[in-house]
Amino acid sequence: MRETTDFLVLGSGIAGLTLALRAAESGDVMIVTKRARDDANTTWAQGGISAVLDPTDTFEAHVADTLTAGAGLCKRDIVEVCVREGPARIADLVALGTRFTRAVDADGQSHFELGREGGHSARRVVHAGDITGREVERALLEAAEAHPRIRFFEHHMAVDLITLSKFGGPDVCVGAYVLDTQRAVVLTVLARQTVLATGGAGKVYLYTSNPDVATGDGVAMAYRAGAEVANMEFYQFHPTVLYHPQAKSFLISEALRGEGGVLRLEDGTAFMKKHHPMADLAPRDVVARAIDYEMKRTGEDCVWLDMTHHTADFLRHRFPNIHAECLRYGVDMTERPIPVVPAAHYCCGGVTTDAHGRTSIPGLWAVGEVACTGLHGANRLASNSLLEGLVFGSRAADLLSGASGDEAWPEVPDWDTGKAAPSDEAVVVTQNWDELRRLMWNYVGIVRSDRRLQRAARRIALLQEEIREYYWNHLVTLDMLELRNIATVAELIVASALCRKESRGLHYTLDHLETDLTQARDSVVKRGVGAHLR
Ligand code: SIN
Repeated sequence: MRETTDFLVLGSGIAGLTLALRAAESGDVMIVTKRARDDANTTWAQGGISAVLDPTDTFEAHVADTLTAGAGLCKRDIVEVCVREGPARIADLVALGTRFTRAVDADGQSHFELGREGGHSARRVVHAGDITGREVERALLEAAEAHPRIRFFEHHMAVDLITLSKFGGPDVCVGAYVLDTQRAVVLTVLARQTVLATGGAGKVYLYTSNPDVATGDGVAMAYRAGAEVANMEFYQFHPTVLYHPQAKSFLISEALRGEGGVLRLEDGTAFMKKHHPMADLAPRDVVARAIDYEMKRTGEDCVWLDMTHHTADFLRHRFPNIHAECLRYGVDMTERPIPVVPAAHYCCGGVTTDAHGRTSIPGLWAVGEVACTGLHGANRLASNSLLEGLVFGSRAADLLSGASGDEAWPEVPDWDTGKAAPSDEAVVVTQNWDELRRLMWNYVGIVRSDRRLQRAARRIALLQEEIREYYWNHLVTLDMLELRNIATVAELIVASALCRKESRGLHYTLDHLETDLTQARDSVVKRGVGAHLR
């Protein structure tokens, strides 16, 4: 079966929807999304979107904070673009009907209520209570659903990108093979322009704040297609996810520490001051490492985030969702500290793009978490990610809209199942899934070493052999595709980490504790070439 479209967008989070809405002004858009359309990482974002919206704040300060967090690897021009275009993109969201929380000042003027998060020198996080992502996703989806030129394909997952070079033609992307996961058929989707907006890859680690959809599909497909991927060693661990046996990775937003939350040990000792002058509002990598260190030192299973200096009314009003969710697990944050642990949260690396989302393969674009624009460098500043999705989703759309074209569709073969049989041993998938995620957590987590990375590389190579064999002999399923993708992402994270012989930002290794100025370079990995610093 075949589909054609001007613009194929893989993913339905903030970046994909922003791009789709703008691109639909000049062509037809097909949005392919793995599960329900709102099942995206964006929906789970709590804190908000950073932008300079307060008259006392400045672009220069937001740029400086982003560069500081990025530990020498941010691209300054990209940071400038993103920060300066932020307020206009927030205005676009408001025009679409996004309801951000507002406050009234002493003069009776209504303005955005701005939150503060780690690494920010000012209050600049616009939010919708503590469910910002859900509100932004709602507004974007409503607009996209009402648009006559946008079609949604839910429960569809891209298997691989279609590049003409696979069939002896030029290196250009012309669409993707897409699995209809409910009917178990693979469509050939031909597109004038193909956009990766597939989000993150938190599921590559055993513990993550991400939803189940975050399996690094875009990075894995782009790599297989021969695109350049950068800075994959910089995986951000969020310091505070609810620690409870039944709570599946529920995020406790950094906005709590922005409101004066204090991290404590079980005996009540506040420990962040001894790790960083900004204490609980230190950059995220510092806080996650400090918690990891304290947990290992004391042997405790978690640390505690104390909000009890606030009144119960304030907490219920400012953090209604977190308050309610904690209560579901018997934790009343108005009365006692919340048990928290770090978990994998955000992939700072990704498919290399320019300032308009163009990847190294013509016809292929990447926006949002799947992309490596140069905004985050070695460590993302809190709440810069929704901002990046908005700004670059919109910038990419401006350029790609002029590139719909009307020439004849290229000749490409349909998906060939060959002798593949229905999956008869799903246990291969679950076994490899568990093993991979556990080894990534233990060997490639917050604190690394050369030996741990080498062990991980050897094991991943073995698992990949088994996964490859299973993939070629069986009909594709969603589970198998996700496993294949997290295995590829794991391989790229380890390969990138192994070529960086220093500690910088989120990459912290016991064998190379210092930051080395000569390594203030991106790691780049490409199929058939391997990883190196450039
Ligand atoms: C949070 O609310 O702590 C997450 C915000 C972010 O990751 O930027």
